Amino acid sequence: MAKLAHAQWSSKMGFVLAAAGSAVGLGNIWRFSYMTGESGGAAFVLVYLACVTLVGLPILVAEWMIGRRGQKNPINTMAELASSHGRSRAWASIGISGVLAAFLILSFYSVIGGWSLNYTLGSVIGTFDGQDADTVGAMFSELLGNPKALLIWHTAFMLLVIGIVARGVTKGLEAASRILMPALVVLLLVLVGYGMASGYFGEALSFMFSPDWGALDGGVVLAAMGQAFFTLSLGMGIMMAYGSYLGEDVNLISTARTVIILDTAIALLAGLAIFPIVFANGLSASEGPGLIFITLPLAFGNMSGGTILGLMFFLLLTFAALTSAISLLEPVVETLEERTSLSRIGATLVSAIAVWLLGVAALLSFNVWSDVLFFGLNIFDFLDTFTSKILLPLTGLGAIIFFSLCLDKEEARKELRLDIYDFTLWNLLAKYVAPLGVIVVFLTGLI
Ligand code: PHE
Ligand code: NA
Repeated sequence: MAKLAHAQWSSKMGFVLAAAGSAVGLGNIWRFSYMTGESGGAAFVLVYLACVTLVGLPILVAEWMIGRRGQKNPINTMAELASSHGRSRAWASIGISGVLAAFLILSFYSVIGGWSLNYTLGSVIGTFDGQDADTVGAMFSELLGNPKALLIWHTAFMLLVIGIVARGVTKGLEAASRILMPALVVLLLVLVGYGMASGYFGEALSFMFSPDWGALDGGVVLAAMGQAFFTLSLGMGIMMAYGSYLGEDVNLISTARTVIILDTAIALLAGLAIFPIVFANGLSASEGPGLIFITLPLAFGNMSGGTILGLMFFLLLTFAALTSAISLLEPVVETLEERTSLSRIGATLVSAIAVWLLGVAALLSFNVWSDVLFFGLNIFDFLDTFTSKILLPLTGLGAIIFFSLCLDKEEARKELRLDIYDFTLWNLLAKYVAPLGVIVVFLTGLI
């Protein structure tokens, strides 16, 4: 009996760790803070919080539940579930756009993962010790302007990802995140404490939570929704793939709540750590993708024990980025492996090389290719915008509509362990609020 309980606990725990490992990454710290800064602060944050709860939660649960039924890669899962429910196999296109999104995202994610590696090394050798805002800013610009350095770090990050996937040690990483994720939270708390002592914490708080609704437009709302999808790893079939490992014993709604609370808490802490530093040093909140790579080294370089804390922080950030990157590579590899004659290793190499090449284009867009534009955006911005604002919402929308159309209501109610009343509420959310929300935000954002 005791043994059984333990086995169940560890399978549940393993699942939560895998899902949280995918969710918690650069999106929470790097992307959340730079998007918040760029989008003017609180209005963005509040819309993001609404999207996470009203859209993210139901879609996360829907993806897990579809995956638990289908037990295959996202494309085959969608095709087979659809045809067994008398629907068109064209639903598989949701799986296809999800895999495409994962491929595109990993290419630039790896470039930023490379920055994190670079800053880990920079912290070890004390590059930031005692430097002022201008110098730290100049160091970042220098990195951006140096394609060779960016190439080396992007390649190093990709090699780590391939090494881990090829050696099949992802389970070990998940186990490690049980210690390393709390460690990341502790370091963020240290940084928040540093921010509190800076005298600019109040300013950061009001920047993040006291909205100027006048600044809100369709673009900001769409950006906030895109961030919700990105940070929760939704709309890529990744959570769907994880659902296929799910035992019947896992309570989907409460697990989703746990993952979402953890992911959101880390993002908010990152914001509370970064914005006091921004205001205390007269930096610009709308600095862009470099925001954490300027603010954080500045803080670590000027606090006592900062060298070791900075090293730990960037190591943990790199680790979090790696677990997310692995989850991004997985659906691409799995799809190639099941749909071509490639072996596992072959599929890993082919996907990784393709991702790496696209990543090279993304990193060149910070320097020599900065004037190569698609729809007015450089390659990096285009990849980021096209995935988070278009592919992810549309794929997630497809998943939630499929869920409501195809899965039997009474069965779903039992599977979600809801009583009639709570199920009515759930149904309202999954059937109307989430899909209509996505459609409205999407359309107003594009117009
Ligand atoms: N959710 C991850 C993050 O916040 C990024 C990611 C996106 C991972 C999509 C997997 C899939 O960093
Ligand atoms: Na995240």
